[in-house]
Amino acid sequence: MDCLRNILLLSCLFTSVYAATVSHDSRAITIDGKRRILLSGSIHYPRSTVEMWPDLIRKGKEGGLDAIETYVFWNAHEPIRRQYDFSGNLDLIRFIKNIQSEGLYAVLRIGPYACAEWNYGGFPVWLHNLPGVQMRTNNSIFMYEMHTFTTLIVDMMRKENLFASQGGPIILAQIENEYGNVMGPYGAAGKEYINWCANMAQSLNIGVPWIMCQQDDAPQPMLNTCNGFYCHDFRPNNPNTPKMWTENWTGWFKSWGGKDPYRTAEDLAFAVARFFQKGGSFQNYYMFHGGTNFGRTTGGPYITTTYDYNAPLDEYGNLNQPKYGHLKQLHDVLHSMETTLTQGEVSNVDFGNSVSATTYATKEASSCFFSNANTSSDATINVQGRNYTIPAWSVTVLPDCKTETYNTAKVNAQTSVMEKKGKDKAKKMRWSWRLEDVEEMVMKGRGDATFSKLVDQKEMADDQSDYLWYMTKVNLDQNDPVLGNNSSLRINCTAHVLHVYVNGEHVGSQWAKDGKFNYVFEPTVKFIPGVNIISLLSVTVGFQNYGSFFDLAPAGITGSVQIVGRNGAGAETAVKDLSTQAWTYKTGLNGFKNQFFRSDRSSSGWSKSNVPTNRMMTWYKTSFKAPYGTEPVVVDLQGLGKGTAWINGNNIGRYWPSFLAGQDGCSEVCDYRGSYGSEKCRSNCGQPTQRWYHVPRSFFNPKGKNTLVLFEEMGGNPSLVRFQTVAVTTVCANVYENNVLELSCNGKRISEIKFASFGNPRGECGSFNKDTCDASNDAVAVLTKECVGKERCSVNVSEVKFGASNCGGAANRLAVEAVCTI
Ligand code: GAL
Repeated sequence: MDCLRNILLLSCLFTSVYAATVSHDSRAITIDGKRRILLSGSIHYPRSTVEMWPDLIRKGKEGGLDAIETYVFWNAHEPIRRQYDFSGNLDLIRFIKNIQSEGLYAVLRIGPYACAEWNYGGFPVWLHNLPGVQMRTNNSIFMYEMHTFTTLIVDMMRKENLFASQGGPIILAQIENEYGNVMGPYGAAGKEYINWCANMAQSLNIGVPWIMCQQDDAPQPMLNTCNGFYCHDFRPNNPNTPKMWTENWTGWFKSWGGKDPYRTAEDLAFAVARFFQKGGSFQNYYMFHGGTNFGRTTGGPYITTTYDYNAPLDEYGNLNQPKYGHLKQLHDVLHSMETTLTQGEVSNVDFGNSVSATTYATKEASSCFFSNANTSSDATINVQGRNYTIPAWSVTVLPDCKTETYNTAKVNAQTSVMEKKGKDKAKKMRWSWRLEDVEEMVMKGRGDATFSKLVDQKEMADDQSDYLWYMTKVNLDQNDPVLGNNSSLRINCTAHVLHVYVNGEHVGSQWAKDGKFNYVFEPTVKFIPGVNIISLLSVTVGFQNYGSFFDLAPAGITGSVQIVGRNGAGAETAVKDLSTQAWTYKTGLNGFKNQFFRSDRSSSGWSKSNVPTNRMMTWYKTSFKAPYGTEPVVVDLQGLGKGTAWINGNNIGRYWPSFLAGQDGCSEVCDYRGSYGSEKCRSNCGQPTQRWYHVPRSFFNPKGKNTLVLFEEMGGNPSLVRFQTVAVTTVCANVYENNVLELSCNGKRISEIKFASFGNPRGECGSFNKDTCDASNDAVAVLTKECVGKERCSVNVSEVKFGASNCGGAANRLAVEAVCTI
């Protein structure tokens, strides 16, 4: 008994010692009464693996973050009503504890609507199928389920003492997500719903503040926050709410058929610095690590498997340089100004032409921001007798109001050249194969359920599979006017991908090539007198995740299906509507049901000879040795069509390398000046939308046999498939005088300094050249001594180190290119 009391006492002491009071005033979030400048970054736990989490979080911390933010993904945790899954990379508690053990705070966006380019915005499809439900509005069935799930998550966190009020890392929680952006069409019921959300959240007594993003009418005490590429002009809806930015989009997501969006480090830093200049005190990067949409988790329709997002950490967890380093330096400067920024008196001077200075002054110290939002002209201002030149579209940060410590347009951080490496003449993989058995469906039209209507795929398949067969039989009299050589089958369609079979033959496939998910597909079909079997395979590629009533967007074959008779000139002569006759349904494919993707399955039924290519509905299997080393691994699926890939039974996501990005609108260089939008800077034109697919190291058997299984839905050639590792091969930097050069080969050693010049060098990484001035000391020799053989080095960039240059008083720069050991 005594023992129990002691344990209780101890645990009570433990929590009370570490419990923190999180609150806020008009200036900032306060922790134990102290106003804080908080920098946070989004890492979504299911978009990486448990093994990757500690490294990602540590890199967040080293990059100057105070907090990690994540959504909670309802449909991942409750795929079937009241059957929960918190295993593997869905172990939310473990993720939050990882954050805690790094000494960081956590921001938990429970939602439970997330958006996030996640399948159905995070809603389970069973929720849609509850009779009488209406989502995200004043509907008791929906509200009951939302309350149940939110309470479950809150209780799980509370039980593990994870709220800051209990000594845990969670300092903020979010309810709903950007409802304000879409609530108009929900009318008065929407308003009632958002009030209910606030009351419900508040009633859970979590002891830390709740936020509602993009919600101008957020009821008190909810803190309304901003999302966007820029949020400097945001004003919270209550004078007592601090200015907070929950999503600073570090790049953008990608869709099948789309190009690779990227956002420059200069513009991202500019947005952050301007936000803090204008009184911001909490900022979160969406995403800090984007990661991978494994399995069937992507939203959309048509969000790709990669969710790299051009974030500061790339899909595989590598530092995305110079973005990561440039932001890290900004974070250090902002943190050094925490007291002045959160306590100082604010004064502004407007210099005209979008140039302004802001001072934060306490009795002891002052900090300044000089900004130039002009898109083309640099500006020089005179402050207290000194001249400062501010490049266009940049902010200069001066922690003491005198010394320019950071300018958002001057990137001193290193650039890393990442390369995919693998043996070019890799031993050819030996494939075995088998066909997906579609006979019952295409020859006989047999399924599991029959209805006299076309049913939405969400209702019929309940998100248990991408695949749903719609089958019907039509008996045509030999005099039927729809018969003839030019007849066609007209399908009004919202299938993300559609494969059409008539009488056992594949007559065509279609998908939303131009991003329009509502299309008509009308292949020519030779119908026969007597019974015809029509089998339509509808395939989903991620359910819609955003918009008012997004949950109601149709999926599958919901429009009419008609047989159209035509004369020799192609004109319509007769139409037979099949939409309300008996349709038989079958969810899923046999190979999925029989788990062909599992590595422990026997090889019977698989053949090693005559491996087919360009054959749809084909399974391929091979075994291989795990790539050596610790670097991230990708599998190159060039040559394949569309399908799903598994490594040792782990679903690494949908692949679709045959879907090429459009030809136009890419730029190798992107002018950081001027407002960024998701279409501004893009690469990868004309290439497969996604050719390389991440295979986390933990999916491999490092010593034994590994199995790769592909289900090829559209037809492709697996002979080019190979594994590669992603490694830093070259690092470069271009550092202004009086800053510090930091070079790192990401855990490998620097083997050679290929180029270095202190003066006014020209060019870019890979093509640097000396120009008119170059310092007296041999920069290559200086850096070889300081850096070669080391994993990282820091060197002061000054004339003391590199000698005098003959640049005639202009500031020097050091350009360096170094090689990393292979
Ligand atoms: C926001 C949303 C995020 C994500 C983002 C785009 O509107 O809140 O979840 O979808 O857009 O990446």
